Formats: sequence, structure tokens, C-alpha cells
Amino acid sequence: MSVTTPPMGWNTWNTFGENINESLIMETCDAMIEKGLRDAGYQYIVIDDCWSERTRDADGKLKADPRKFPHGIKYLSDYVHSKGMKLGIYSCCGPKTCMGYPGSLDREYTDAKFFAENDVDYLKYDWCYHPRNLEGKTLYNRMKMALNATGHDIVFSVCNWGQDGLLEWIRSVGGDLYRSTGDISDNFTSVKNIFHSQIDNLPLSGPNCFNDLDMLVCGMNGVGNVSAGGCSFDEYKTHFSLWCMAQSPLMIGCDVRTLDDEMLELLKNPDLIAINQDRAVRPIVQCKESEDDVFSYAKMLENGDFAFALTNYGDEVRTIRVRFAEIGLALGGEWEFRLRDCDSGEEVGKTFTDGFSAEVGPHCTRVFRGKPVKTI
Ligand code: GLA
Repeated sequence: MSVTTPPMGWNTWNTFGENINESLIMETCDAMIEKGLRDAGYQYIVIDDCWSERTRDADGKLKADPRKFPHGIKYLSDYVHSKGMKLGIYSCCGPKTCMGYPGSLDREYTDAKFFAENDVDYLKYDWCYHPRNLEGKTLYNRMKMALNATGHDIVFSVCNWGQDGLLEWIRSVGGDLYRSTGDISDNFTSVKNIFHSQIDNLPLSGPNCFNDLDMLVCGMNGVGNVSAGGCSFDEYKTHFSLWCMAQSPLMIGCDVRTLDDEMLELLKNPDLIAINQDRAVRPIVQCKESEDDVFSYAKMLENGDFAFALTNYGDEVRTIRVRFAEIGLALGGEWEFRLRDCDSGEEVGKTFTDGFSAEVGPHCTRVFRGKPVKTI
């Protein structure tokens, strides 16, 4: 399995926690197709914690809880595959999952076989109850080897919250994506803290090993398992824009069935998704003149374009200026930038030689895509 761009999809945890079942998965799959999310690139439907029975069966195998998933997991993977999507599931490297369901410690090969037999495409592997006498790299290595041994393509989503020296070993254990922080909550402070904690780590993120800033809270509007006050639309816009700039996996966490049109358009924004899925996966450069509440970030894209994000964490409307020299771009009169506003998808209509500025509302982010054009 080669995960060359950040995985996109939906995960049960943020909204539904323990309240998951077969019809939720099938209805969400249908809604993602009907609302155009599949075609926008969202591919994985991930069943998080709490899907299994509380104990293993007589043979030591995992079993889906028949009250939640009466037809089992294979039935769902067949359904999701028939709709052109992929199924993810969850386990944990300790003896129990975070919610107390059976974990895969010492059962890695049995469980990997179970996931493969059920045609699962993606495994999120958590860190709760990890044994203290074994290192993270050993625990994650074990499961990766077990997944490889199945011969099935199963994306390995490491979720150890950035602990135990993760950045030193994550590439060597074959994690396709890795959660680098504690859990997100549905509020703006959480979004901002997670993003800023990872800017310096982004140079390590790249194809086959993406820094996962956690699942999106966009559209939760203060309702659900990780709700903590909710965010305004502009705050969700900042959240989505920054996750795209960071090239984090994009796992929607709200109830897709009830998504409103404005949020849906944001989640499907083709210019932002193109930045998220850019194959070069270069890190973000933070512009030097960032003030307390006002930041600008830039990133070079595969075709030589640049993405610029202007973020206003403050409570007043601000004009944010990007000076190209601050990000090491001395154009020297030979180049200028043609800009496209990623909100509207429209060209700004003039060219810029030293920099540009834009008005940004409180807690909002605006993203522009700049194409360098030669002047001589
Ligand atoms: C941890 C993870 C979350 C979620 C829960 C499930 O907290 O970080 O993303 O999977 O466990 O219990």
C-alpha cells in the first residue's frame, strides 16, 4: 500500500462515540455519495472504538457487537466497496481500547487476519493501556508486520498522540499517517493549539507518512462526543484551511447526513483540497512578521505555485499583509504573482511583485494560490 497523498474520509468518533451501528455506517456512506463528498476525494469510512463485543470469542477472535452490527463487518465492507468507498476499523496496542473493548496486544496476528478476512482497508491503531515494558516502536512494528503478513492492502493509521518519541520512529515502523497530538475538541482553542504545536514538525510529514492533526470538527456545531462549545463558521473555515495547508489527513467528524450547504461547500472546496492533496508535500513556511493574533503561512506546491494562508485569530477585522521577501521569495523584478482567491475560485485580476494584503474577518482564514509569472 502506498499512501501518497493524505487520506480523506469520515470517522465515527467525534460525533457518535459509542453510539455506532450498521445503519449509521450505511446511511453515512450513502450521504457522502449523494452530497458529492466521495467525488470530492473523501474515500474512507472509519469505524472507531466501540464496535466489538466486550470480550473475544472462544477462539480468541474479535467479534463485532451483534446489537450494533448484526450482519458483521464484512457485510459493511462489501456495501462500502460496492459504492466505490473503503472501510476503516479501529484497535489499540494495549490489552484494551480506550473505551475498554478488547485491544490487540499479543493478538496482533489474529486481529490483523480478522481485519483482512473482513476486507477492511484501513486500521486506526490507538495507544491506550500500552504496556510500560514495551516501546511504542515495538508495539506499532508488531501490528505493521501482522498487517503486512495478511497480504492485504491495509492503511496503517498510527494514533499514539505524538508520545514516546514518535517522530524518531514513525517512518521506520511504516505508519502511513500518525496522530501527533492529543484529541481535538470542538472549539477554536483546540484547533489553534493543535495546528501551532505541529508547524515545526511538518518537514517530517510526507508521502507514506502524514502528520495527522486529528479528525475535523467542522460542522459539529457543538453537538456530539467531542463537543466543547462548538465553533463559528469562520472558525471552522480556519480549521479546514489550516488542515489543508498542513496536508493533514482530512477525516470529517460531524454527522454527514445533516450537513448544511455552507459547510458542505467548505468541505468540498476544490482549491483547498488541491492544496491538501498536493503531491510534493512540502512544509509550511510561517511569515516572519506574524503578530500575536495575525499569521500568514506559505507553501510551495508541486507545480511551482504557492499557497498562502492568512489567519486572523483576533476579534477584530484585520488587514493581513504577506511580503514575499519574508518567505525567502525575492522576486527581483523577474517574477510576479498572479493570485487566485481559493474561497471563490476566482482570479484576483492583477499581479503582485512585493507582496499582497487582504482583509480577514475575526477568527477567519483566507487562502490564495499564487502562480509565479515571468516578467522578462
Ligand atoms: C483516543 C483517540 C481518539 C479516539 C478514542 C476512542 O482518545 O485519540 O481519536 O479513537 O481514543 O476511544
